[in-house]
This record gives sequence, C-alpha cells and structure tokens, in this order.
Amino acid sequence: MSTIGIIGAGEVGSHIAVAALRSGHEVVLANSRGPETLSDLIRQLGSSARAATASEAALAGDFIVIAVPMKLENDMPEKELVGKVVIDTNNYMAWRDGHFPLVDALEKTEHEIRQEQLPCSKIVKAFTHIQAPRILTWGKPPGAPDRLALAAASDFEEAIDVVRSLYDQFGFDTVAITPLSESWRITPGQPAWRQERHSVAELRDNLARARHVVRP
Ligand SMILES: NC(=O)c1ccc[n+]([C@@H]2O[C@H](COP(=O)([O-])OP(=O)(O)OC[C@H]3O[C@@H](n4cnc5c(N)ncnc54)[C@H](OP(=O)(O)O)[C@@H]3O)[C@@H](O)[C@H]2O)c1
Repeated sequence: MSTIGIIGAGEVGSHIAVAALRSGHEVVLANSRGPETLSDLIRQLGSSARAATASEAALAGDFIVIAVPMKLENDMPEKELVGKVVIDTNNYMAWRDGHFPLVDALEKTEHEIRQEQLPCSKIVKAFTHIQAPRILTWGKPPGAPDRLALAAASDFEEAIDVVRSLYDQFGFDTVAITPLSESWRITPGQPAWRQERHSVAELRDNLARARHVVRP
C-alpha cells in the first residue's frame, strides 16, 4: 500500500482520495488555501487521511495526483516532485484556464506542457474522461464482462504502470497511450472523452477515431 499525495481537494481530488482509502492507501491532501481549511474533509475521510501544504503532500507521496486546473505558469511544487510519478487529471478548458496558445495551435498537448513544467517528474494523464463521482460507483471486479476501461497517457512506462495498478484497484481496465504527445486523443470533445463508458476495445476504437480540431 502506498501513501498518495493529492494536490487539489475538490471534485476529483476528494473522490480519488475516497477510492484510494477504500483500497487501503494513505492520502495526504492539499488545496490552495492551506491545510486548516481541509479539516471537515479530513474528518470525513478518517484516520488514513491528513491535510498538508502542496509541497508537503508532494514530498510525502510515493506518487502524486494533481487534481488542479492547470495554469500556463507552473504553480505546482517542482522541487518536491522531482523523480516522482505525477498523475495529472487536468482537462484544459480555455474558458476557465485562459488560452494556452501552443495547445490551441495543436502544437503541444496540455500534458506535454505540464511535463515541461515538471521536467524531472514522470507525468501521466489519467482520470480525465470520467466524472469524478463515478470513480466510486462504476468500478467492477477484474474479469467482469462489463468492466470499463480508462486511458493513461505518458512517456514513461513506470508512470502508466502506477495508473494501471490504481485503476485496477478502483475496478477499471487500462488503455495506455504513448507517447504523451498522443494524449490529445482523449481531450474534451474527442469521441473517447465524450463517450464515458467503454470496454478496452471501444476505448481503443474511439482513440483511433480522434481527429485534430482547432479549439475555440
Ligand atoms: N470534476 C470532474 O468530474 C473532472 C473529471 C475529470 C477531469 N477533471 C479535471 O480535473 C481538474 C480538477 O477538477 P476539479 O473538478 O476537481 O476542480 P475543483 O473541484 O475546482 O477543485 C480544484 C482544487 O484545486 C485546488 N487548487 C487550485 N490551485 C491550487 C494550487 N496552486 N495548489 C494547490 N491546490 C490548488 C483547489 O483548492 P482551493 O479550493 O483551496 O482553491 C481545489 O481543492 C480540472 O482540470 C478538471 O477539468 C474534472
């Protein structure tokens, strides 16, 4: 069992925390306003959860989840994340995040930019095409005929393996996307993102059907 540092304690971070605790992990959660603002959530999560600053969560985790809308200027603790697998749940939404010109021009994916922001970490894009509460309700045991698949995109096999293990514990199969530059195939608007429920075969098929579209 691992200690998972979770930076971002909103919709995604808190649901991943619950799923991780159910699977026997420990979680260290951080938000932007400070650990004292997380006391209600930590009380609900129980004794295997604690609150910390983002830097402390990054240091404490065997691996890290970033569940924070991405900024063009890095706001994650780069030094404390060195050498770590970093699961990034971010979906770029220009109306919310501001425009990322290289992403808008289809020259880079938002996760390649995250990889550049955290060059000594191993970024893996995951949990981006499932509504957060469904992480807790849509999982099925291994081998179940209706078990669903989720994507994991990275340049690092080790990072995909961390996600594969976590997905498996949460009740999902994994479809790997490599290299990270191919992660545009699972971005908002693409078939694999729009259709939430897929088997491994359906997810692979939908990833293959992705087409570059200039985003507004
Ligand atoms: N919601 C979903 O179902 C879903 C599904 C897949 C992917 N996503 C993507 O995942 C990302 C997170 O979404 P969300 O819905 O969980 O957002 P959210 O509910 O708004 O939560 C965001 C969290 O990030 C924290 N935060 C913001 N800036 C931070 C910083 N610099 N350092 C530490 N913590 C910081 C916030 O803390 P404060 O509250 O203290 O500011 C808050 O806890 C987004 O990119 C979203 O598009 C969401």
